[in-house]
Amino acid sequence: MIQYINLTLIIIGFFTTLYATYIYIKLVKSLTKESYQFREIYREQRIVIAFLFIFLIGFVVGFIDVMARDVDPIFTFILVIFFLGSLFLLLIFKSYDSLINILFQKNTEILKTIVNMIEFKDKYTKGHSEHVRDIVSLFYDNLPEDYQGRINRRQLLDAALLHDCGKIGVRDEVLNKLGKLDHDEWENIKTHATNGKILLSTTCFRELSDWVLCHHERMDGNGYHGRPGNEIPLAARIIAIADTYSALCTNRVYRARVAHDQAVRILQEAAGTQLDHELVRLFVQIDPDELEQVSPALLTDHNDRSRIRRGRLNRLP
Ligand SMILES: [Fe+2]
Repeated sequence: MIQYINLTLIIIGFFTTLYATYIYIKLVKSLTKESYQFREIYREQRIVIAFLFIFLIGFVVGFIDVMARDVDPIFTFILVIFFLGSLFLLLIFKSYDSLINILFQKNTEILKTIVNMIEFKDKYTKGHSEHVRDIVSLFYDNLPEDYQGRINRRQLLDAALLHDCGKIGVRDEVLNKLGKLDHDEWENIKTHATNGKILLSTTCFRELSDWVLCHHERMDGNGYHGRPGNEIPLAARIIAIADTYSALCTNRVYRARVAHDQAVRILQEAAGTQLDHELVRLFVQIDPDELEQVSPALLTDHNDRSRIRRGRLNRLP
């Protein structure tokens, strides 16, 4: 009888440990890809994988033992400990899994709050951050694998969403000025890249801060901070293209939007000097219909602005 109980404990314990391993692998994948801000949890918990192995091996050895020998009280006691341990591990991993999902949801809400704050200040570029994020998402999915392997997709999308977060430190009258910016105002608006780095560098988004800092750098070294092209992070070069395309294809108070074909021509003209030549070549191969689908409302909502003026195509967001 006890032998059957032992066998039952071994089988249930083995499959419980297998299920706990599956949850753990799912958790690690989430922490290294989607929920990258909470990687510390993974680092602190790596030791538990040793327990998973010990438990799995223990149940296999226990199965062999229970089939070969008579009932031993010490063996049964150890088996009960292993069984309870496997249940405990499963409980812990399930809790972590739920916690990470909740944190990820809250994190998304925090990002949305930051974007709302930017748009509260800079009303004329409403929807721009999400538009750039969506373009970057499409761009990433169309990149060759060697490019994709060099960058975390979720981090890239978050950086694209937050690229202009430093505008929170730019004066309202500068952000919302309809006329031409003077030198002082232009210098003030340029601070948004540095502001963004400062804002993010002490938060769980610190890994994105250099990308945000560099989103207005140019390949010829004539960007906001004069950083040479080979020192501009790949993510910043990707965001720069999406940012430029979004700015061109959206109505602004200082100019009307251009059609996709014209935007592509402008990007190609800027390739090698302002933008990364190879990335532009890859970007212009994206299906125009897919690009339009990522934000159709943004491209059509603001067509009735009577204040749209032309002649300032050089001003990027
Ligand atoms: Fe910007």
